[in-house]
Amino acid sequence: MKPIRIALTKGRLENKTVELLERLGYDCTNARKKGRKLIMPIGNGEIEVVLAKAADVVTYVESGVCDMGVVGKDTIMEKGGTFYEVADLGFGKCRFAVATLKEKDLYEGYRTLTIASKYVNVAKNYFEQKNMDVDVVKIEGSVELAPVLGLADAIVDIVETGTTLKENGLVVKEEVCPVSARLIVNIASMKLRKKEIEELIDKIEKDIKKRAKEA
Ligand code: PRP
Repeated sequence: MKPIRIALTKGRLENKTVELLERLGYDCTNARKKGRKLIMPIGNGEIEVVLAKAADVVTYVESGVCDMGVVGKDTIMEKGGTFYEVADLGFGKCRFAVATLKEKDLYEGYRTLTIASKYVNVAKNYFEQKNMDVDVVKIEGSVELAPVLGLADAIVDIVETGTTLKENGLVVKEEVCPVSARLIVNIASMKLRKKEIEELIDKIEKDIKKRAKEA
């Protein structure tokens, strides 16, 4: 039987996803001792794990080279795509927010604001909903630098603990929306491997419920 191939987001979500798979009873020794390997079987080989960057998880699942994926809602909101989003996994919790220098009043005067973000679509959509015309500048990382250096009036970014903002003299001015890890499924896989995939989703949903009760 061909394994179900699951793309996992490397980094912050990786460990939590491996923990989830372990709670479901899959032996994840290969994922724990992976070295620089990017594809590995887990359990008794019924699942194959692929480690990828967040945006690429979406690409691999959308194209069908991976059946399922675990990726943040932030990436889904930014990149979009055609796939099923079947579960909120309840970890990787953070939020999108508008932040800038503590003393700055974003709405004084009638200027067009410049917003820096790694998530240009999320930033554009947010201000569009407020009927505000803004210039969005794409920054690849450490976006907190932009208002500090005077490149932008504010940022739209992920806030988890708030430490990065605080240590750089920035504060949240507006909440955009909550973010967490999501389970996504390729549309064709959902039809062709319905039984196996639904069984796995079912196990995951039971685990989510169990953890929610314990919390
Ligand atoms: C994210 C985000 C913030 C930071 C927020 O960056 O862009 O910089 O985490 O976390 P905190 O609220 O717990 O401080 P990440 O570490 O993913 O790296 P990046 O800046 O390269 O995107």
